[in-house]
Amino acid sequence: MKLSSTNTLLISTVTVVLNSLGTVAVDPQGWYAANPGLSKIGLVDQSINQITDVYGRIRFFHGTNVVMKSAPWYRSSNFDPPNSFGLQDVQNLQALGVNVVRLGHHWAGAEPVRGQYNQTFLDIMKSQTQLAEAHGIYILVDVHQDVLAGQFCGHGVPNWFVQSNWVPSYKKFPVPQKIIPFATDSNGMPSASDCGSLDWSVSYLTAAVCNAFGRLYNNYDNLGDSFASYWKKLAQQYVTTNNILGYNLLNEPWVGDSYANPSLLVPGVADHVNLEGLWNKAATQIRTVDNNTLIFFEGTTYDILSGFNNVPLGDGSRSVQSYHYYKPPQVGTIEDTFKNRIQDNQRLKTASVLTEHTMWMGDSTQMTNIQFAVDKADQYMMSWMGWAYENLYNSTQQPYPELAAFYSRAYPSAIAGTPTSFHFNSTDKSFALVYKVKKAITAPTEIVLPTYTYPQGYNVAVTPANSLVQFVKDSGTLSLFTADTTADGQTVSVTITKQ
Ligand SMILES: *[C@@H]1O[C@H](CO)[C@@H](O)[C@H](O)[C@H]1NC(C)=O
Ligand SMILES: *[C@@H]1O[C@H](CO)[C@@H](O)[C@H](O)[C@H]1NC(C)=O
Ligand SMILES: *[C@@H]1O[C@H](CO)[C@@H](O)[C@H](O)[C@H]1NC(C)=O
Ligand SMILES: *[C@@H]1O[C@H](CO)[C@@H](O)[C@H](O)[C@H]1NC(C)=O
Repeated sequence: MKLSSTNTLLISTVTVVLNSLGTVAVDPQGWYAANPGLSKIGLVDQSINQITDVYGRIRFFHGTNVVMKSAPWYRSSNFDPPNSFGLQDVQNLQALGVNVVRLGHHWAGAEPVRGQYNQTFLDIMKSQTQLAEAHGIYILVDVHQDVLAGQFCGHGVPNWFVQSNWVPSYKKFPVPQKIIPFATDSNGMPSASDCGSLDWSVSYLTAAVCNAFGRLYNNYDNLGDSFASYWKKLAQQYVTTNNILGYNLLNEPWVGDSYANPSLLVPGVADHVNLEGLWNKAATQIRTVDNNTLIFFEGTTYDILSGFNNVPLGDGSRSVQSYHYYKPPQVGTIEDTFKNRIQDNQRLKTASVLTEHTMWMGDSTQMTNIQFAVDKADQYMMSWMGWAYENLYNSTQQPYPELAAFYSRAYPSAIAGTPTSFHFNSTDKSFALVYKVKKAITAPTEIVLPTYTYPQGYNVAVTPANSLVQFVKDSGTLSLFTADTTADGQTVSVTITKQ
């Protein structure tokens, strides 16, 4: 902008400096002083199916999952991998350049007695969220479950959810996975040794588990309403918190009662028959207290293409499809999945994020597949979260170097314009980003250059020269402000090389 003869431009606390052309130069320090902390997430840019922040930047996320699958339903704050999520944990993640954690918020921990929330538990979850915020990490609030309930050797819903008389005795868990139902204690819980004899993923096909999911979806005894009320409670907790990427309604929802309606097993059918109604119910409750936070919704785990007719409340501008990639149940490559989810995005007018994929030590085929996945995520411009944080550590409580290398890639966490492409080369650690600047965005592009990957620093080359103003925000982040002289829509490319 041109300096006028009046001093009105100078009244802000931001220091205004002049460059040699006599125009107002960008002032990185001033911008950060005026806009401290993590920026709130904004809408989905429905023209390119990407997440924005409140400054209009396109945002990308690399991260991991932290989910405590048993009481007390949260990780300890004392560093003790794989059992902790405290200061040392978030510092380690920050050094790897991780900017998001999908953090399990178990309903079982939050509402141990029906209608009575455990505020102590909810406050612990919020304090972990705030700890992450202090280290530059966003949180995806995740109501997690696997096989729904303790009564089914799984976890997720509170113990009061499942009633023992829902199925006749000959159909009790885990029939037909096993011919004879398990013995249970006075609380209806099977023994640990019986549970240990099962392949949990097959347990979804048992009569009792299908029946219980069916009752959640058809709001038996207002159980769907209770689920939605829990989401309202979570939204009340987090509505003013800056570092919330979104609300992930339910992890890996099963199809429902496929014994009563076998068509639910056809990929995509359960999405619109069962899930859509519950997602709308929960989203309605969230929106009574929080109009803005993105709502992440999942389809059933083995869908090839999404079967939803509508995203929650029909508003794709605040909805993100949360999907997972494991093989099995997926049959194709992750590239096929990315292409399918982009097709879903275009139909549903939303964005999508890979919220779980394999990130643990395996044989050379698996490690090659992880490399392929993170490379393809760059190519298709997909944000991702590995499963899971605890798998990062080896027996010496150090990150496995092989896994740390996957987490500590360079990537653009924020782009002040429209991305064309980005790519991290895991061999020589070089990174290239191309985008078209949007002059209306005064916030900077931010590239995560993890100290783990660039311990001696990095070199930066920008084309056209001087189109961006460089600023080292912190040891792991390079900021690039659009120079005043750069035209709107100018294509710029940034190349990083390791020192
Ligand atoms: C609430 O959560 C806290 C923290 O885990 C726990 O100590 C307490 O026993 C819980 N209260 C109930 C009623 O479950
Ligand atoms: C949400 O937006 C609607 C429409 O603008 C408004 O009436 C309502 O008060 C808002 N609710 C909250 C919780 O901000
Ligand atoms: C564990 O990680 C450390 C640090 O990255 C590494 O030096 C060591 O070789 C690893 N040990 C194993 C058993 O992987
Ligand atoms: C990555 O860098 C290596 C070494 O410089 C180079 O041989 C390779 O072609 C690069 N890969 C890609 C995909 O650019």
